[in-house]
Amino acid sequence: MTNKFPSMNFEIETERLYLNMWEESDANWYRELIGERGIAKPSYEKVQKKILSLRESSLENGISLLTVRRKDEEDFIGYCGLIIGRSTLEEPEIAYELFQRTHGNGYATEASSAIMEAAIATNRRRIWATVRSWNIASFRVLEKLGFIRHHSICDENGELVWNLRDL
Ligand SMILES: CC(C)(COP(=O)(O)OP(=O)(O)OC[C@H]1O[C@@H](n2cnc3c(N)ncnc32)[C@H](O)[C@@H]1OP(=O)(O)O)[C@@H](O)C(=O)NCCC(=O)NCCS
Repeated sequence: MTNKFPSMNFEIETERLYLNMWEESDANWYRELIGERGIAKPSYEKVQKKILSLRESSLENGISLLTVRRKDEEDFIGYCGLIIGRSTLEEPEIAYELFQRTHGNGYATEASSAIMEAAIATNRRRIWATVRSWNIASFRVLEKLGFIRHHSICDENGELVWNLRDL
């Protein structure tokens, strides 16, 4: 199936952040970020492959997760962007994950607001976000972005809420 949407912007600047396409050199901090989930840190090779596949699929799909870097501290704090995820290329999901030490400073809201603008510029009509029912911080970010709770499903990991923003 051909992609009818223009590519999203992969190089974005906000007041405090840079959002960029993944580079091979992002493998080290990305491993640390995944380690914060309380699961085993993936190998360097596995993460490198993941970065390569993110770069390839961004060219194919015209959407991507982007790295998030602070301008002042010049450090990588996580990622934010659009993915097909549990949805579709036409109505993708927004996703974000930041290092715990940076939480509570409005960075996810700032990065994801810029991603929503990038999504609007691709002429998409709807963006989804799927969130586990316990994830209060994520719901709050979505609320600030204008998402509304649409429906819930239950799977082996518990309740999953589908949130929607009409663009
Ligand atoms: C979700 C996540 C990206 C939010 O990042 P962040 O930079 O802290 O988000 P922001 O600072 O922009 O906004 C967080 C909001 O949630 C609120 N919040 C956070 N924890 C909360 C809690 N336990 N109870 C009530 N509100 C809470 C904050 O006060 C803030 O709202 P406010 O601006 O009205 O004060 C971050 O928690 C994270 O990386 N979590 C792990 C990965 C994850 O869960 N990703 C989402 C998967 S769906």
